[in-house]
Amino acid sequence: MDTVLQTAIAGKQPSRGKVRDIYDLGDKLLIVATDRISAFDVIMANGIPCKGIVLTQISRFWFDFLAGDVEHHLITAEVADFPQPFCDCGKQLTGRSMLVKKAEPLAVECVVRGYLAGSGWKEYQTNQTICGVELPAGLKQCQKLPEPVFTPATKAEFGQHDENIGFQQCVEIIGQEAANYVRDKSIEIFQKAGGFAESKGIILADTKFEWGIADSKIILIDEVLTPDSSRFWPADDYQSGRDQESFDKQFVRNYLESINFDKSGPGVVLPDDIAARTSAKYIECYERLTGKKFKVGC
Ligand SMILES: Nc1ncnc2c1ncn2[C@@H]1O[C@H](COP(=O)(O)OP(=O)(O)O)[C@@H](O)[C@H]1O
Ligand SMILES: [Mg+2]
Repeated sequence: MDTVLQTAIAGKQPSRGKVRDIYDLGDKLLIVATDRISAFDVIMANGIPCKGIVLTQISRFWFDFLAGDVEHHLITAEVADFPQPFCDCGKQLTGRSMLVKKAEPLAVECVVRGYLAGSGWKEYQTNQTICGVELPAGLKQCQKLPEPVFTPATKAEFGQHDENIGFQQCVEIIGQEAANYVRDKSIEIFQKAGGFAESKGIILADTKFEWGIADSKIILIDEVLTPDSSRFWPADDYQSGRDQESFDKQFVRNYLESINFDKSGPGVVLPDDIAARTSAKYIECYERLTGKKFKVGC
């Protein structure tokens, strides 16, 4: 199946993140989610069919869902409403692109955790804390926390890993007022979205938000509550005390472990069946969350 690994619209070279191609239009950005997949922070050689479309449509769903609660960067996801030359590039862009307000990104990743997994579980086992926040004794792996915890992280340079920091360090980086705001808003959104996801049979275990400043206001930017930025677990299979099946990259991670993948890179070619099964997982996540059938031209 076709994948979009890189775009070059009308000869323009975008800047590229792990997943997105970003065209700078002055006070706006045109963000294109490609089908690139990264695992262990390494970009793989081939893509996951439809992944960029699924990610864009899930973010779009949440931006609508959260519209009354928070100001965000999305202007439009309709290609016809994009400026020239982008509005003429439907073939590359439809379903996978957003015109957004350009912001000055705050230099912290705003992670909220409702369950004890990943680096949170690791830290808890050694210190009974996550990002310095004290937790009750005796919690099990993947157990639900008494309440969601804001656990910020620094933004790593390309190829590096994010590092967890305490709230005080977050204050030092972005200032007290901004830190309080993004902490409170991130938790509020996490709770609202988590409740909704649960009603669809999906546990939102944790997620990462990014915030930025545009027109002197702090707004929600980047992707929102997608399988790439969140841990989603199927609720019917959930049990604390062990690892959970994740919705998205499990097949990829398992495959990479099975070939003793060198996490310092470069990325490898994922076998077709791994790519196809991963694509189906992303699509399942979209369909469960939104209640809509996925059918965006691929
Ligand atoms: N509205 C915005 N203004 C400025 N930067 C943004 C905005 N929305 C997202 N970004 C940035 O665009 C990039 C998205 O590309 P992505 O491939 O996800 O990158 P990464 O590899 O850093 O995750 C991120 O660096 C993110 O901070
Ligand atoms: Mg990203």
